[in-house]
Amino acid sequence: MPEPVNSTPTPFDAARFAKAVRQRLQSLQRSGVSSMTTATGQGVDLSELQNHLATIARHGLPSMEQELPAAESAVTPVVAESVQITAVADSSPIVSASDANPTAVPNDPVMPSKKHKELDLVCQDVADCTACAELAATRISTVFGVGNPNARLVFYGEAPGADEDKQGEPFVGRAGKLLNKIIEAMGLSREEIYILNTIKCRPPGNRNPTPAEQQNCSEFLQRQLEIIQPEYIVCLGAIASHSFLDCKTPIGKMRGQFFEKNGSKVLCTFHPAYLLRDPRRKRDVWDDMQFLMKDMGLPIPRKSKGVE
Ligand code: URA
Repeated sequence: MPEPVNSTPTPFDAARFAKAVRQRLQSLQRSGVSSMTTATGQGVDLSELQNHLATIARHGLPSMEQELPAAESAVTPVVAESVQITAVADSSPIVSASDANPTAVPNDPVMPSKKHKELDLVCQDVADCTACAELAATRISTVFGVGNPNARLVFYGEAPGADEDKQGEPFVGRAGKLLNKIIEAMGLSREEIYILNTIKCRPPGNRNPTPAEQQNCSEFLQRQLEIIQPEYIVCLGAIASHSFLDCKTPIGKMRGQFFEKNGSKVLCTFHPAYLLRDPRRKRDVWDDMQFLMKDMGLPIPRKSKGVE
């Protein structure tokens, strides 16, 4: 006789549900979708919606008596409505699509590429990963990586911090804002490159990732890089450089030259968080970026102020 189905209804776990929806939204974002509309025609920015879902993942749904803090309270109507996805690709017209039925989007201009799909599979495995028990128990989100799957250049950081854990995206906090400036000074944008970290979960209290955590996550990194196949990888800071190149050489001695790994040219430089503590090092990072740009054949702005 087949096993009877447990007829006891499972209590609704809002936090778990919110996490799952966030992973799905992140996957849509990686496919180029930046906003959607609800069944009632209300436009919803995907990044904003992810922030609301992060709040639910952290605090659960507000009870009738207890309201969410003012800035976060807008979540209720957005989540409560049945959501009919209307994909808005960056710089493309609005196209209707049903999230429930992916085959309903034959003429969708944001159909994910093969690389998008391959990365999505890795992303799902990352979302399900519990190899590091402490990190899995304390994270709000896994922070997979973001950017262009066809990028020539990958920036490789250390580990998500509080902002990244909340938003599920690497380098969105203070260090991320400085990284954005570095990228812009190079004449590039976040959409043209790819950004990822040594590990995909936030270490509690922003401690350094342990060697065991780095080892547990290395399979995901390897799979991501095999799909993206970047020509260049910039390791940001000592943790990323040492972990990626399996060495302990001080970062000051590693910068200013390329190493080779699995067909990519690897450059090590200071981490943006270090630049926030010691801004005099910005000059060094800008020198490293110009060294990189020359090799990539990118134009170097003649009167660039470098990294501000
Ligand atoms: N620092 C990192 O190394 N990675 C992030 O994603 C954010 C800050």
